[in-house]
Amino acid sequence: MLSEVISAAFVALWISSCASTSAEDPYMTRALQLMSETPLIDGHNDLPWQLRTQFNNELNKVDLNTLETTQTNIPKIKKGKLGAQFWSAYVPCESQYKDAVRQTLEQIDVVHRMCQQYPETFMLAISSQDIMEAFRMNKTASLIGVEGGHSLDSSLGTLRTMYQLGVRYLTLTHSCNTPWADNWLVDTGSEPSQHNGLSPFGKQLIVEMNRLGMLIDLAHVTEAVMNQVLNMSEAPVIFSHSSAYSICPHKRNVPDDVLIRVKDKGGIVMVNFYNDYVTCSKTAKISDVADHFDHIKKVGGPGAVGFGGDYDGVKRLPEGLEDVSKVPNVVAELLRRGWSDEEVKAALGNNLLRVLSQAERVRDGLKAKRPDDVPIPFDEVKNPCRTSYGYSNAGAVHSLGTLALALTLALQALITGTVS
Ligand SMILES: *[C@@H]1O[C@H](CO)[C@@H](O)[C@H](O)[C@H]1NC(C)=O
Ligand SMILES: *[C@@H]1O[C@H](CO)[C@@H](O)[C@H](O)[C@H]1NC(C)=O
Ligand SMILES: [Zn+2]
Repeated sequence: MLSEVISAAFVALWISSCASTSAEDPYMTRALQLMSETPLIDGHNDLPWQLRTQFNNELNKVDLNTLETTQTNIPKIKKGKLGAQFWSAYVPCESQYKDAVRQTLEQIDVVHRMCQQYPETFMLAISSQDIMEAFRMNKTASLIGVEGGHSLDSSLGTLRTMYQLGVRYLTLTHSCNTPWADNWLVDTGSEPSQHNGLSPFGKQLIVEMNRLGMLIDLAHVTEAVMNQVLNMSEAPVIFSHSSAYSICPHKRNVPDDVLIRVKDKGGIVMVNFYNDYVTCSKTAKISDVADHFDHIKKVGGPGAVGFGGDYDGVKRLPEGLEDVSKVPNVVAELLRRGWSDEEVKAALGNNLLRVLSQAERVRDGLKAKRPDDVPIPFDEVKNPCRTSYGYSNAGAVHSLGTLALALTLALQALITGTVS
């Protein structure tokens, strides 16, 4: 009896404190209002990787309505008003030169199955228009981003096929070099540079991504790669989950000079909430995350900032941002700091929508261009798990052709007595 009285009192207290916080925080009320008008589009969430590590992708054994071992589930998504999510099709660098491509296809598959299994919550999205359509239907637009060029096994055909499967961004590297691009660890000095940025094949890949309309994600690459891509990409670029280097000098974050170039190109930096990138320490608060938003806005303007929480990809998140349901806390904090409604809406989703539609326009402008079918030189990808089919034949045909051409020219020269 006594315990019931006590718990009843606790419940009453709990209800009144909850009611009073939301009623008394006009910034939160405003934040939720803005989030019902403009979709929150988050750049990076690793729920698919959690589905693999916790359930080996056996979705039938999981209920996303009640799952409690992840930072993302359906009630948390609803509470956090997650309008659109780039779900990460990530597989570790360890799989490079082994089964990375298969594992990545399986991660893409699990996102498709998630959308099929929970059609009332998720809608697969492959365009800026799809995002808005899902938002109008009160569903979370579900986009796919592949995290790490190792997932392609250095193949433009694989890139194109993944695009066909709905992939709309590729993070050029994860935390390992590929045969054509250097990763951020090179900038820490813990790994040697192999390509001084991008190799010639890496540059072919950038051109092909522009042609396809796939966003180029510069999270995880070296500064040299960032600058080379900013020099050559026709479409704006994204950092799907990186923060500001000036606030926390971690090599996964974006330095100011790059930030300015991202702005000039019309791109965005989507702020990562991982404590280690927010404060360069193990702990962080909501205000520390807001400092990154403020800084990116100051240096790159309100058009250069977005959200890229990295939920379910990281273990340490700021107090008050422990799972996806808490994201409105950041939005309220930005309003408290004087961000205008328009600036908040830009950060929530309008900036990403602008970037994606610009990439779509670049693609449409390049319609007449043929797919690039020149493969990476075999010498650059030789490894025991790779066969050389095609290369040897193409090489043989090529050298036969060259020989025939040389003979013809020599014969002509003999006959006509001229060398042209
Ligand atoms: C979406 O939710 C809003 C607010 O709850 C509601 O007014 C609207 O009718 C819903 N739209 C659809 C298509 O379900
Ligand atoms: C980018 O282009 C500028 C101007 O042409 C050049 O000075 C710079 O070295 C280039 N940067 C990289 C990383 O290629
Ligand atoms: Zn990452």
